Amino acid sequence: MTSKSPQPVTFKPSGPLAGNISVPGDKSISHRALIFSALAVGKSRITGLLEGEDVLATADALRAMGARIEKKDDVWTVYGVGVGGLMQPDNAFDMGNSGTSTRLLMGLVASHAISATFIGDASLTKRPMGRVIEPLSRMGVDIRARETSDHKACLPLTVRGICPAIPIEYRLPVASAQVKSAILLAGLNTPGITRIIEPVLTRDHSETMLKGFGAEINVETDAEGCRVISLTGEAELQPQKIKVPGDPSSAAFMAVAALIVPGSDILIENVGINPTRAGLFELLRRMGGDISFKKKRTVGGEPVADIHVKHSPLTGIDVPADIAPSMIDEFPILFVAAAVASGQTTTRGLHELRVKESDRLTQMAKGLELLGVKLTEKEDGLLIEGSGGKPLPGGKPIPVIETALDHRIAMSFAIAGLVTKSGLSVDDIRPVQTSFPGFQDLLASLAS
Ligand code: S3P
Repeated sequence: MTSKSPQPVTFKPSGPLAGNISVPGDKSISHRALIFSALAVGKSRITGLLEGEDVLATADALRAMGARIEKKDDVWTVYGVGVGGLMQPDNAFDMGNSGTSTRLLMGLVASHAISATFIGDASLTKRPMGRVIEPLSRMGVDIRARETSDHKACLPLTVRGICPAIPIEYRLPVASAQVKSAILLAGLNTPGITRIIEPVLTRDHSETMLKGFGAEINVETDAEGCRVISLTGEAELQPQKIKVPGDPSSAAFMAVAALIVPGSDILIENVGINPTRAGLFELLRRMGGDISFKKKRTVGGEPVADIHVKHSPLTGIDVPADIAPSMIDEFPILFVAAAVASGQTTTRGLHELRVKESDRLTQMAKGLELLGVKLTEKEDGLLIEGSGGKPLPGGKPIPVIETALDHRIAMSFAIAGLVTKSGLSVDDIRPVQTSFPGFQDLLASLAS
């Protein structure tokens, strides 16, 4: 983070939001674009890359393992070392706040004859890593992690890779694209077929992109309806030209802002609408949101559209648990929409939200309660009583919301501030830099 001390910011009630904007590049695709390019033989070019702290942490680690990565104007160039060609890094990888960097790079190191130590900030250091350690250990990899008092494996940890690793068939016990991708990355340099059985579909960028890079990867559905992903190891990846679309998880904040601030009408250009990511937009439509996808097209194998959003009265909804994986990062901002809807919104099956950058159920419940929202926090979800379109009461002095090193908590409350009676403060805006540089300026541009 650029500044060492927390940076509180106040967000005040807003007039109508209007204008055409674009949001920064997709975080998930940006990490993968850098990693796969670093494993290709030769020079890849990436445009639209998210230049947030999380993605820059991935770039630094790849450089430390021998990939040359340069930026000129808007183009990132990656000179890949080839699958199996990574070098021993000199220092520990500081992954900052980034769970995606950590889990994906653990998989990458796993099947190379190198070792790497991963450290991170106070948020990342609390997040569970056992879900990645378990399958990688089955591949023969030696991973030593700190054990917490409640027996969870957490950072700091050291991965001692093995080459050749043993190919595995693994059924994902948690719906996690990070775990899936870590195993696929380890499988790239492992002889034979690495197979992953995915009972619940999660974001599929790794599969799509690996196919684009020329890997032998096959996706089928078995008799029980599970996805079965088979990757043939010792792959050779061909360098690519990649255009990263705008991040739907970032667009989500602006879309909800436009829905809940009366009189708003905005267009968010060039946003990824992959169905494994677009659950929030579908759900907001079901709540009465006027959201339409314009100029649908395919860019680099990913569906993309311009998203038109107009202010709409929203109605509370019973959110089905099975939509969760396709909007897993969007629940904090959905809770804000629910807080101003008419009637009750219920959510369930959201245990995973407790192990994100913060415990997102608790952080959202605490902050919304400070704003005067009536809600119940359950073990696996929130029940929220909406204000029926009325401004959220807040209080005097204005409430100070704890963001707990979580970018999505900070941005969700920034948007909530626009529909309070007299505003709110978030206690620290710095975490926004991990995924959405320029967030405040972009929001201000819509309000002016
Ligand atoms: C991500 C997957 C999700 C998501 C995270 C990014 C990815 O995590 O929450 O922001 O890029 O694979 P899980 O796979 O752990 O649910």
